[in-house]
Amino acid sequence: MKAPPKIDGPAVPTPREIYERLDRYVIGQARAKRAVAIAAYSHVKRCAQRRRERRSLLKKSNILLIGPTGSGKTHLARNLAEILSVPFTVVDATEYTEAGYYGKDVEVMVAELLFKTDHSIEETQRGIIFIDEIDKIARRSQGGRTGAGGRDIGGEGVQQALLKLLEGREIFVPLNVTQHWNKHDFVQVDTSDILFICAGTFSDLHVAGGRAVGFGSTGEARTGRRRISQRDLLEFGMLAELLGRLPVVVELEALRPRELRAILTEPPDSLTREYRDLLALDGIDLAFSEGALDEIVRYAIDKGVGARGLRAIIEEVLAEILFEAPERRGRKASVDRRYVQRRLQTLDASSLRED
Ligand SMILES: Nc1ncnc2c1ncn2[C@@H]1O[C@H](COP(=O)(O)OP(=O)(O)OP(=O)(O)O)[C@@H](O)[C@H]1O
Ligand SMILES: [Mg+2]
Repeated sequence: MKAPPKIDGPAVPTPREIYERLDRYVIGQARAKRAVAIAAYSHVKRCAQRRRERRSLLKKSNILLIGPTGSGKTHLARNLAEILSVPFTVVDATEYTEAGYYGKDVEVMVAELLFKTDHSIEETQRGIIFIDEIDKIARRSQGGRTGAGGRDIGGEGVQQALLKLLEGREIFVPLNVTQHWNKHDFVQVDTSDILFICAGTFSDLHVAGGRAVGFGSTGEARTGRRRISQRDLLEFGMLAELLGRLPVVVELEALRPRELRAILTEPPDSLTREYRDLLALDGIDLAFSEGALDEIVRYAIDKGVGARGLRAIIEEVLAEILFEAPERRGRKASVDRRYVQRRLQTLDASSLRED
């Protein structure tokens, strides 16, 4: 392999290298991984140029991830931060309000990152902030798009407030996240080099004329569907100014059965490895049959939880084995399809949606 290019000191991974490292942990989503790898590389180049020349004409590569629940939006962003060795925090857009209203000011998002870095302003300024549920702060005035159409919870105001964070400005960040109404203690943070990754399911996104754009689980809907356009997002209730600051729009697909299957076994931190290691500490040799894995995947697909539900499903499948493990030292625990079916009969699917 060729030596990675040097941009201002430390070696920067190329898009291909970023992609390949993402690929080990994020299954499927090839297009999303490529797009994110390119955006991340551009971002790093832009930051380096700004350091060298004190300015940059390159636009900031903030990212909007759109995809169904459990498709890997948060997972992809978290792994990207790991690869770039930058601090990372996840915030929920619905917890924020426009300044002056009850709730958190958007500056607190940066405070969360500051907290993650032990209050290192320098580290914070090169971090990634993942803003989840961005679709839940869509403007609601346009004709009752959702059932909550009449209720105005200030989504537009929060979008407005986000603009100054996303475009990169010096802002004042409260030091004490829990008592942010005490404005005495704050620090100045430059958000120019903070990469913002916004994410949402946009699950009720429709185009004019009634044809839905969304995430069908059937093969046809996956391949035949139109890409989500800026116009769709505007109609959904996102502000043009906000979309303008999210130039990289990336769509993730609902994961297919064989991808869920791969998630169970392939990544270095896969669930089956994790539980095998856990039980090995009790001297138990855990093994899943092929049928058992298929059954777990079938259940996850059935309940529409994507990869998100896999951990809770496995936890339930293994509950008895985990409970008795210390008393069964030195034995083998073989999990087959019948065993999985029996264990899952009583599982309440609503418990699978939690984090
Ligand atoms: N493509 C994937 N490859 C490997 N693991 C994945 C993938 N997608 C999801 N996972 C696993 O499932 C868990 C949940 O996924 P994640 O939180 O990224 O979903 P999401 O798309 O953000 O969903 P939501 O909209 O519900 O937040 C992750 O912690 C990860 O372990
Ligand atoms: Mg998520």
